[in-house]
Amino acid sequence: MSNTDPQSKSFINYSEKFYNLLNNSIKDMVHTVMLVDDEPDNIMLLRRALRKTKGLNIVTANDGEEALQKVRELNGHLTLIVSDQRMPKMTGTEFMKIINNEYPNIMKIIVTGYSDVDAMIDGVNDCQLNYFLIKPVDVEDLKLIMSECISLFELKLSKNILSKDLKELFFTTIKSISSALDAKDTYTHGHSHRVTLYSLILAQELGVDEIMMEEIETAGLLHDIGKIGISEGILCKPGKLTDEEYETIKKHPSIGKKILIGIKKLDKVRDWISTHHERWDGRGYLEGLKESEIPLPARILAIADTYDAMTSNRSYRKGLPHEVASEEIQRCSGSQFDPELVKVFMKVEHIFKEAVKDPIEYYNKYSVLSKSIEHKE
Ligand SMILES: [Fe+2]
Repeated sequence: MSNTDPQSKSFINYSEKFYNLLNNSIKDMVHTVMLVDDEPDNIMLLRRALRKTKGLNIVTANDGEEALQKVRELNGHLTLIVSDQRMPKMTGTEFMKIINNEYPNIMKIIVTGYSDVDAMIDGVNDCQLNYFLIKPVDVEDLKLIMSECISLFELKLSKNILSKDLKELFFTTIKSISSALDAKDTYTHGHSHRVTLYSLILAQELGVDEIMMEEIETAGLLHDIGKIGISEGILCKPGKLTDEEYETIKKHPSIGKKILIGIKKLDKVRDWISTHHERWDGRGYLEGLKESEIPLPARILAIADTYDAMTSNRSYRKGLPHEVASEEIQRCSGSQFDPELVKVFMKVEHIFKEAVKDPIEYYNKYSVLSKSIEHKE
């Protein structure tokens, strides 16, 4: 897509509109600013100076404890806190340290007396202050610094919204491709989602980190993407496949690899997808890799894929019971499957047995990608 073609232009226009919409809605937002000081005169002075500033909601507190309580009541929905350093009950840096741990997005300014500077510098890194100012502070200077903090907050907010939207777009696209794939192969309806679920159960038991869980989820949803390149006549053939047809089906991991080439974010996932039909003993395809030559997620996918192939219904036969599938997986330990992973499977097979009854509900429970979208506000 070049920058001059109509599709590209409409995309750029759309992006600009989106940015403008986003920026305008952020610019229109009301910012809550908290002033914390045990000297009521200081608060009054600043409050008066800020009186004519549009879009500000001012909240005040006389000490750190009261301020903390108010921030919690607001669920951290504040843009900026300006606090005095020397106060009864809790110092400004002690208070800001708690704020930084609980609500890291809030901007923080501390105003301190000259004699407290050394003591405060130690606390600065702990509470990630945006500014500390030494008294006496000119109110107009403080207003300028506050408006800089508010702009920084808006910038961070729009960045968070954009990255959350991008992640959501990525996830929904992957899910749509996966659903389209499942719909193409009528015999294995819902297969990609179930394989993803079983892979996530195994990966969670292995204790892999959150990023890898997300990648395994992506790989599960896309593991058979190469079947897009296989004709429905072969994929949906009710009877036994001829040798030639079987050889065609065996091409799907390499077709999948080609489809995903060039998508940088999916580099690892692509390698796992292209090796999900390798076997522990080296007798699988595409390349006959064996044991640890096969990436761990591909070995996980292999167990999940086979378990689903055995337990799901086909038009010509009913799915096998969990116990039969489990026995078969154990029988193939060390030949088709990684024996250590089969041990992991044995530990969690009770979850498989339950999940197979309601895979959609279980998938929602195990999906890491959907949770990461919900939580990245
Ligand atoms: Fe496959």
